[in-house]
Amino acid sequence: MTITTCIFDAYGTLFDVSAAAREAAAEPGRDALAQKWLELANAWRLKQLQYTWLRAITDAHTDFWDVTRDGLDWALEATGLNGDPDLRERLLQLYWELSAYPEVPNMLAALKQRGLNTAILSNGSPDMLDGAVQSAGIGAFLDDVLSVEDVGIFKPARVVYDMVGARFGCTPEQVLFVSSNGWDAAGAAGYGFVTAWVNRAGEPMDRLPWKPGHVLNDLTTIPDIAGG
Ligand code: LAC
Repeated sequence: MTITTCIFDAYGTLFDVSAAAREAAAEPGRDALAQKWLELANAWRLKQLQYTWLRAITDAHTDFWDVTRDGLDWALEATGLNGDPDLRERLLQLYWELSAYPEVPNMLAALKQRGLNTAILSNGSPDMLDGAVQSAGIGAFLDDVLSVEDVGIFKPARVVYDMVGARFGCTPEQVLFVSSNGWDAAGAAGYGFVTAWVNRAGEPMDRLPWKPGHVLNDLTTIPDIAGG
């Protein structure tokens, strides 16, 4: 079936989640962070995601900004970087203006040129997503930015993926869903979307009952996969 709609995960897929720690580490006076920024970024991301899953299965939803702060506090303590309140504030500030991966604007422009619907479907809260889309300058290439806050539970709950059909009037087989998160691509494949997992880091595939249809190194081939 023809793809009509391309849906993107936000954090890690369009926006580089390591950029906050990397950019803060390059600032003057951040010697301790410079040694450990990658360890911090990885722990921050992992805890942030774990908290989304735990809150979903315990029916204790809060928004993505809360779990982002909670994940950072855990990661700062784990890496021994928790003695500097200014660093915490700086990292949180940078999370609102993450850079997009370099191929993102051209890739989205190519999809729009081919007449496809384009949108973000993210755990992010609407205000966080708005900040990231604006600072990356990609708003003109997106038909919509869908946040899980409209359904009050995080991915990969199926009710989140339902938002795509409700917004664009398409069937799951008409959707190309793109995520850098293996578990998200797997969940979306289980839902019935055509899926692409963007595996920039060369990670092993998640051992889940569903597999992504495409495995990519970056986003450059998305317009070819989507066709149109
Ligand atoms: C998102 C997270 C999962 O944007 O990356 O939904």
